[in-house]
Amino acid sequence: MRESEDPAARQHSAYKQQAAEHAVTFVNSGMVVGLGTGSTAIFAIRRISELLRAGQLHEIVGFATSQATWEEARRLGIPLLAEDMPRAIDLTIDGADEVDPHLNLIKGGGGALLREKIVAQASRRVVITVDDSKLSPRLGTRHAVPVEVLAFGWQSQLRFLESLDASVSVRDNAEGSRFVTDSGNMILDCHFGPIADPFGLADSLSRRAGIVEHGLFLGLATDLVVAGPAGLQHRTRRADGYS
Ligand code: A5P
Repeated sequence: MRESEDPAARQHSAYKQQAAEHAVTFVNSGMVVGLGTGSTAIFAIRRISELLRAGQLHEIVGFATSQATWEEARRLGIPLLAEDMPRAIDLTIDGADEVDPHLNLIKGGGGALLREKIVAQASRRVVITVDDSKLSPRLGTRHAVPVEVLAFGWQSQLRFLESLDASVSVRDNAEGSRFVTDSGNMILDCHFGPIADPFGLADSLSRRAGIVEHGLFLGLATDLVVAGPAGLQHRTRRADGYS
């Protein structure tokens, strides 16, 4: 059954759209907006384009978190900031693969984690939009942690990740060829199971040469918009990390 014919998948997609479009209500004219990657963020991008065309938003400049998003935003007529990011980003809207109660995230299911993290770290406000299936008591429960590695010496990174108790798979494209990120690297998907100390793990991953970036986004989201059967919720991260 194609996703569009499956009522559950359609409902899922409707929640993603609801959450993403709500996040766009935080965008004001004149802002530089980080444009996320994936099937949720695309709804925000389309909505921004609609509001620009309707004259309800103006002087918006987007900054894309992936080549795919850049192409789509350009096709939809959203003006884009140059790649060297000459201005700071006011607000970024992006999706996530898993969200814990402290608004820490796993991202990178679409392979865009490096650019997504660069954009999130450069943003004053990071609004994460998800359907409620992404909520999790503990990161790693529902999703592998994508780790972007250089092809040079990659099997050494695989052994290193296994030594951290991950079960690791090399990401391939649907047709079986190796997945290559926008920056020309590989992705190793690391199944850790529920992660007791995500900050400690992030630290170990960041210290390893050859690991370009990892999909643990800790303390970066300022806002979470969740849509599900219980309706729409907007939560913000408190300074102590609890929301
Ligand atoms: C892209 O690399 C990811 O970080 C996405 O933001 C994440 O995988 C969520 O994707 P969906 O919105 O398609 O579920």
